[in-house]
Amino acid sequence: DLNTISIPIIVHVIYNNENENISDTQIKSQIDILNQDFTKTNLDRDQVPQEFLPLAANIQINFNLEKVIRVSSERTEWGTGDEMKFSSSGGSNVVTPQSHLNIWVCNIGEEALGYAQFPGDNPLTDGIVISPQYFGSEGYVLSPFDRGRTATHEVGHWLNLRHIWGDGRCMKDDYVDDTPSADQPNYGCPEYPVLSCNTNDMSMNYMDYVDDTCMYMFSKGQKDRMRAVFAEGGPRQSFIK
Ligand code: ARG
Ligand code: ZN
Ligand code: CA
Repeated sequence: DLNTISIPIIVHVIYNNENENISDTQIKSQIDILNQDFTKTNLDRDQVPQEFLPLAANIQINFNLEKVIRVSSERTEWGTGDEMKFSSSGGSNVVTPQSHLNIWVCNIGEEALGYAQFPGDNPLTDGIVISPQYFGSEGYVLSPFDRGRTATHEVGHWLNLRHIWGDGRCMKDDYVDDTPSADQPNYGCPEYPVLSCNTNDMSMNYMDYVDDTCMYMFSKGQKDRMRAVFAEGGPRQSFIK
């Protein structure tokens, strides 16, 4: 498929203090990173090792910020139970999920940096959620997750990607042929090569668990899997005009 897909974004900022009420500049820094990572224009793409260079893909998706909704809340922590997605529970309702990526930025606590809903699930909770200090690269951000890669990773899930190690040992798959099987997640900033399951791990893939500065590619197989959700009969077909 030769076409670029454009995805409008609604950002819901749900905050309990001034830090969490992140600036427009911080939001913009995140949109810029998504656009770079999904068009293979990220500056760190030159770090992809030779072995994986032919597999690094330009996903040909761009994102544009359509609207920011800000909601002040008494609640200090939201967890991962989707309550931030409903104004009836003090959050902010989803906006036109059939054509827009909704991103809720709120403190979800220690459990995760962010989480995503896979395609084909309830429209009322469709989108991704990220804690403010892991969103974007400017402002209220916290190293080593301060380069906006949590959103890149979560949008990967939102477009049907699994973790690169398949969430299991060597026999568990991520349903992508060109990503080598891996035995477990990688953390921190592993030095290439990391061997598991008799192949070198693609630890620099956005769908591993490494630090933000140590992930810089999607594969061609992941591109096909993501773009398939927009195809005729696919769960996100309605995004294509
Ligand atoms: N732990 C989160 C998840 O599985 C996101 C991990 C993102 N990694 C990163 N370097 N920002 O959804
Ligand atoms: Zn994940
Ligand atoms: Ca694979």
